[in-house]
Amino acid sequence: MEVLTKYRPVSRIVEALQTVEGDGVPIRRVFPARAIEDIDPFLLLDEMGPLELAPGSHVGFPDHPHRGFETVTYVLEGQMEHRDSCGNHGILGPGDVQWMTAGAGLVHSEMPGSELQRNGGRLHGFQLWVNLPRRDKMAARQYQELPGSRIPAAWDAARRVAVRILAGESLGAHAAIQTRTPIAFLHFTLEPGATHQQPVPQSWNAFAYVIDGEMDFGANSGAVAAGHMAVFSRDGDAVTLSNPAGAARRSSALLIAGEPLGEPVARYGPFVMNTRQEIVQAVDDYRNGRMGAIALR
Ligand code: CO
Repeated sequence: MEVLTKYRPVSRIVEALQTVEGDGVPIRRVFPARAIEDIDPFLLLDEMGPLELAPGSHVGFPDHPHRGFETVTYVLEGQMEHRDSCGNHGILGPGDVQWMTAGAGLVHSEMPGSELQRNGGRLHGFQLWVNLPRRDKMAARQYQELPGSRIPAAWDAARRVAVRILAGESLGAHAAIQTRTPIAFLHFTLEPGATHQQPVPQSWNAFAYVIDGEMDFGANSGAVAAGHMAVFSRDGDAVTLSNPAGAARRSSALLIAGEPLGEPVARYGPFVMNTRQEIVQAVDDYRNGRMGAIALR
């Protein structure tokens, strides 16, 4: 028996909001914004830049805590340097991914690499926040840090669709990163006129964010420009994306999807728990140094 694929229509298109975060980093906040608080299990998506840093500039995200969720940092251009309260230190370059499970909590800093701060240059990247299920909110912290060379990539037969697989699977390739709940995080690049159909389980929430050029996501979509998110309805088991025929150049987009947790969300800045009482506890733990501090350097 053949089962027909049903493509999910787009339910809304949202323009990311230009704002400034941390110590003066220009970002586009895709959500939370306006009417979209979260897309269960995803809590936030920010696009950092792209921006040109002047030599000697000190923008960044100095020491701050997290508890109860995961931060995923994906660098496209430039460098991000991180340090945390457990003594971890690393530099992410173009194509590199850090999937950090904050769990019970830590304090970290995320700054442009010292070389980039000194000499100036381009910075472009993303940060996604993935909520943790109640059972994992107080888990031990964990890092999965992969250089771009170890992020699986795949192409369609005509090599007109390219995908980098940060989480999940696409075009026969599987991610190297393990996720706590089922998630897909895919970075697609399409030649003009190319189309791709990506299976996404019907029970998952799904959205796409256009990074470059224009992308058409099927019913109710039209051409979606860079800096916009298309949210898909739950009505179907696949999504479609195409770079419109006649487009002048390649286009690229993130497709992010996951099984919703369906649990209550209590959020306050960098803490995301299930209840208000747990937030009060998180603030108290942070203020009293129980999430640690970054050693002087
Ligand atoms: Co952070």
